[in-house]
Amino acid sequence: MKGLEHLLQPIKVKNLTIPNRVVLPPMGTVLTNSDGSVSERLLAFFERRVKSGAGFVINEITSVHPKGSSFPGELAAFDDRYIPGLRKMVEVAHRHGSKIAAQLHHVGRESSILLDSGEAMGPSAIPSYVYGKAPREMTLDDIAEVVDSFGKAAARLREAGYDAVEIHGAHGYLLCQFLSANSNKRTDEYGGDLRQRARFVIEVLQSVRRAVGDDFPISLRLSVEEMIKGGYTADEMVPIIPEFVKAGADIIHASFGTHGTPGGLTSAPIEYEPGFAMHLARRVKEVVDVPVIGVGRFTDPFVANECIARGDADMIAFGRQHLADPDFLINAINGKPHETIECLACNQGCIEREMLEGRRIRCAINPETGMELRYPTKPAEKSRVVWVIGGGPAGLTAAHESARLGHQVTLFEMDAQTGGQVNLAAKAPFKEAYRRWIEKLTAKAERAGVTFRLNTRVTPEMIAGGNPEVVILATGAEEAVPPITGIDLPHVCFARQAINGEVPFHGKVLVVGGGLVGMEVADYCREQGCTDLLLVEEMPESPVSKAASHGYMLHKRFRQAGYQLILGARVKEITPDGVLISVGGDEQWLTGIDQVIIATGTKPRNELKDFLEEKGITHHIVGDAVQGRRIIEAVEEGARAAWSI
Ligand SMILES: Cc1cc2nc3c(=O)[nH]c(=O)nc-3n(C[C@H](O)[C@H](O)[C@H](O)COP(=O)(O)OP(=O)(O)OC[C@H]3O[C@@H](n4cnc5c(N)ncnc54)[C@H](O)[C@@H]3O)c2cc1C
Ligand SMILES: Cc1cc2nc3c(=O)[nH]c(=O)nc-3n(C[C@H](O)[C@H](O)[C@H](O)COP(=O)(O)O)c2cc1C
Repeated sequence: MKGLEHLLQPIKVKNLTIPNRVVLPPMGTVLTNSDGSVSERLLAFFERRVKSGAGFVINEITSVHPKGSSFPGELAAFDDRYIPGLRKMVEVAHRHGSKIAAQLHHVGRESSILLDSGEAMGPSAIPSYVYGKAPREMTLDDIAEVVDSFGKAAARLREAGYDAVEIHGAHGYLLCQFLSANSNKRTDEYGGDLRQRARFVIEVLQSVRRAVGDDFPISLRLSVEEMIKGGYTADEMVPIIPEFVKAGADIIHASFGTHGTPGGLTSAPIEYEPGFAMHLARRVKEVVDVPVIGVGRFTDPFVANECIARGDADMIAFGRQHLADPDFLINAINGKPHETIECLACNQGCIEREMLEGRRIRCAINPETGMELRYPTKPAEKSRVVWVIGGGPAGLTAAHESARLGHQVTLFEMDAQTGGQVNLAAKAPFKEAYRRWIEKLTAKAERAGVTFRLNTRVTPEMIAGGNPEVVILATGAEEAVPPITGIDLPHVCFARQAINGEVPFHGKVLVVGGGLVGMEVADYCREQGCTDLLLVEEMPESPVSKAASHGYMLHKRFRQAGYQLILGARVKEITPDGVLISVGGDEQWLTGIDQVIIATGTKPRNELKDFLEEKGITHHIVGDAVQGRRIIEAVEEGARAAWSI
C-alpha cells in the first residue's frame, strides 16, 4: 500500500511475528469489574479497538500486587483467579489477528486511595507530585516481594495465552519512582546515581525473564525523559537503556513525562504536533538493537509510516486516535483516509475524565467509545421521519446516528455551514482541527443519508407543515447578556464577535468572564498581537483548570503574554472612560480600557420547545439547548436521542 509500506511490514521480536507496526498502547479504561477482573464492557471496548488492525495491542495497566493498584478495580494479574478473564482478552486479540501483551504495573506512591489508607509505598517517603502525601519507604523485603510479584504476574499472563508482556517503567509509577532522583533518595544499593537507581528496574526485568522463559518477548515502557523540574533527562537515561536490554527487554516503548509533568504532556494536548516526541525514540534507537516503539499524538498512519521510514522508531503507538476513530488504519488501507475522524487531543472523555473526575472512559467526539455494549448496530424496528434542528455537534451526531439506524433524517441549520459554536472554537489558536472534525462529521452524516437544509431557520409553522414523527432539538446556545450598565456602548462586544474577527482590537482589552470561552478569546487576542489585556472573573479561582492539559497551556500563554487575571471580581458598569468592578465589596475603576469583550456564558436557545410540547410532538432536547456545557455532553446527548428513536 503506497505510503504505508513501512507501517504494514511485519516485525519479528524473538519468535513472535507481529503482523504490522501499529501499536495499540495501554490505556486505562475504568471498565473493569470492581475486583479488577475483565468485564464484558472491557472486552467489548477492547474488541472495537482491536478491529483497527493494529499488529501489537497492549492491555492497560495490570496490577501485579494487591497493594499496587491505582484503585481497587484496576485490571489485575496478582492472583490466578484473574487468568480466565485475561484469557478472553487474548482470544479477542487473536480472533482479529493481533499479537497481545498486557502491561505489568505497580502504582507505588501515585494512588490517592493507598496514600489515604497509609498503605502506599515508594522508594522514599517523599510526597506524590499529584496527591501531596508521602508513602512509606519500601524495606528490602518490600522490594524483594514486589520484584517477585512482577515475575509471578508475568507467568500468569503467559499461562493466559499472552504473546508478550510489557513492564510499566514510565509515567511516574513505581519503577519510574525508583529511576527518578525526585522520588528516590535511598542511600542503599537501590539509590544513588541513575545507574544505581535503575537497579530496581533491572531486577524486575530479570524476575520477569526468569518467570516467562527465554523465548517470551518483554517490552519495557520508559519515560525516556521525565520532563519535570529536577527529573532525569534523556541525556542521562539513554546511556542506561542498553542495560535494560541486557537484563531482558526485547522492546523499548519510548514514552515520556510523568504525572507531575505540567500540562499532562504524557497525553499531550492539541498544541503538540503528531510525532512531536520522535526525537526521543530515535535517541533510544541509536543505542539499542531491539525494536523501539514511538508514541505521541499520532493520528495519521501515513505520518507514522514516514517516521518508520526515517528510522525514528520501529513501531508507532496510536493511543487516543484508537478512541476517536478506531477505523483510521482500515480507512487508510482502503483508500479512504479522508473518512477518518482525527483525535482532537482534548482529553475530555479519556484521561482527564478518568484522572480528574474518576469516571469511566469515553471520547468527546466518538459516542461509541466506552459504550460498546449499548451501542446499537442493528437498524431501528421502524424507520421514522426525523427532523434534527441545529447543526452543531449535538445535531450532527444525532443526525448521523439516526440515519445510521435507518431513519429518514433531515438536518436544518440556520447558518450557512454546520458546526455551531465549534466554528468559533476552531478559530482559537491551535484548534483548526475542530473545523476538520465538523467537516468530516458532516460528510459522514451525508454518507449515512442525512438531507441537509442549510440557511434554514426552523419555525413552529415549518414543523406544523412538515409533520415530522420525531424532532431532535439541538439549537444550542447564544450569549447571555449580563446585567452590566453600559453594555451597549460601541467599544463593548461579545466573545463571538471578537473571535469571528468582527472587531478590530486596539489598545487595552478587558475580557469579562474567565471560563473556557473567555480564556480562548484572550488567547485569540494574544495571537492577534494584543499586548495589554485584563481578564475579570467572578469566581475566586479560574474556572479553567490548570490540571487539564489545554487549560494548563491557556494559562501558560496568558501568563507569558503578561496578561492580568483578576479573580473574585464582578464587573458592574462600563463607561467610555473606564470599567467599574467590585472586588470583595470594594469598588474600583479600571481606566484606559479601549475594548471590552463579554464572555460571561450562554443561555439555551430553545424557543421551539413550548411549541413541541404544546402539540405533543415527540422530541428530545440535546446539547447546549438544555444548558451550555461542552462538546462531550452535546455529542453524547445527540447520540442517545438517536438511539432512543
Ligand atoms: C469560542 C468557543 C470555544 C469553545 N471551546 C470548546 C472546547 O474547546 N471544548 C468544548 O467541549 N466546548 C467548547 N466550546 C463549547 C462548545 O462549542 C459547545 O458546548 C457545543 O458547540 C454545543 O453544541 P450544540 O450542538 O449543543 O450547540 P451549538 O454548537 O450552539 O449548535 C447549535 C446550532 O443550532 C443552530 N440553530 C439554532 N436555532 C436554530 C433554528 N431554529 N433552526 C435551525 N438552526 C438553528 C445554530 O445556528 C447552531 O449552528 C466552545 C465554545 C466557544 C464559543
Ligand atoms: C485514557 C488513557 C489511559 C491511559 N492509560 C495508560 C496506561 O494504562 N499505561 C500507560 O503506559 N499509558 C497510558 N496512557 C498513555 C497512552 O498509552 C499514550 O502513551 C498517550 O496517550 C500518548 O499517546 P497518544 O498521543 O497517541 O494518545 C493512557 C492514556 C489515556 C488517554
